[in-house]
Amino acid sequence: MDLNLAGKSVIVTGAASNIGRGIALGFAGEGARIAIVDIDDVAGRKVAALAEKRGAKEAVAIRCDVTNWDDVKSMVASVESRCGQVDVLVNNVGWTIERLFMEKPREEWEREVQLNLWSTVNCTRAVLDGMVARSAGSVVSIGSDAGRMGEFREAFYAACKGGVVALSKSLARELGRKNIRFNVVCPGMTLPDSKDTISEQSLWSSDLMSQLNTPEMRERIAKAYPLRRVGRPEDIAAAVMFLASDAASFITGQTLSVSGGYTMM
Ligand SMILES: NC(=O)c1ccc[n+]([C@@H]2O[C@H](COP(=O)([O-])OP(=O)(O)OC[C@H]3O[C@@H](n4cnc5c(N)ncnc54)[C@H](O)[C@@H]3O)[C@@H](O)[C@H]2O)c1
Repeated sequence: MDLNLAGKSVIVTGAASNIGRGIALGFAGEGARIAIVDIDDVAGRKVAALAEKRGAKEAVAIRCDVTNWDDVKSMVASVESRCGQVDVLVNNVGWTIERLFMEKPREEWEREVQLNLWSTVNCTRAVLDGMVARSAGSVVSIGSDAGRMGEFREAFYAACKGGVVALSKSLARELGRKNIRFNVVCPGMTLPDSKDTISEQSLWSSDLMSQLNTPEMRERIAKAYPLRRVGRPEDIAAAVMFLASDAASFITGQTLSVSGGYTMM
């Protein structure tokens, strides 16, 4: 199937690390023009160089704090002036640290709302003027199965990711008549293979989260998945690229779990 993504202008947020990196490299392989948006532009530039090698028509790393509205507006303006338009936005930035709700300090709730919900609202709103004017566009946001079914030690994160799903469905209803589609992909546990594929600010850099990424833990986690393995960034990228593409032109407001059968909803 030709996804017809060659030459399309694509923004991927959080593209310097793990899943976002895999998504950016996936679009690169299809010949898209990619903006690798991340707060860590050193790691972002490395991904941009690799994306060009993988076949991107153009790959540029843009430093942007997606929780900051002014930063987001100038990032989108810079992509529009370079590429003429934004065809696809992938809202991938997200963050959590697993802890029981009763033990979670307020700073962590606030960081989770900023990085999971405000980041998605800011970037989505900023690309919509152009998409509405052209009556075309696709927004794919990265959710989590936690937001679909709730998860132990992830109550606040689950609430934010549930918000991402509800936002996407509501916008799908409001803007379907403008031919703008909104879908959500929920990854299962997708662990980085090595330190070379994560950025300094990656959630996998924290001591607590990196404890989940040992060979023993991988094996234990895989047992909870019918397909008996953890996710790879390429698994998520394939679903995102399909939903972003014209091949999915009649699909909107949907939430797709890419989690080895962990959730079946
Ligand atoms: N990895 C998993 O197992 C898993 C499972 C379910 C859902 N998810 C979701 O997938 C997405 C990606 O996860 P990941 O594991 O690749 O995360 P990651 O932490 O490795 O990568 C996130 C990237 O976002 C960047 N970033 C952080 N704050 C930013 C800001 N304010 N502005 C711009 N960029 C910023 C970081 O520098 C990093 O490069 C997240 O939304 C996460 O919630 C991940």
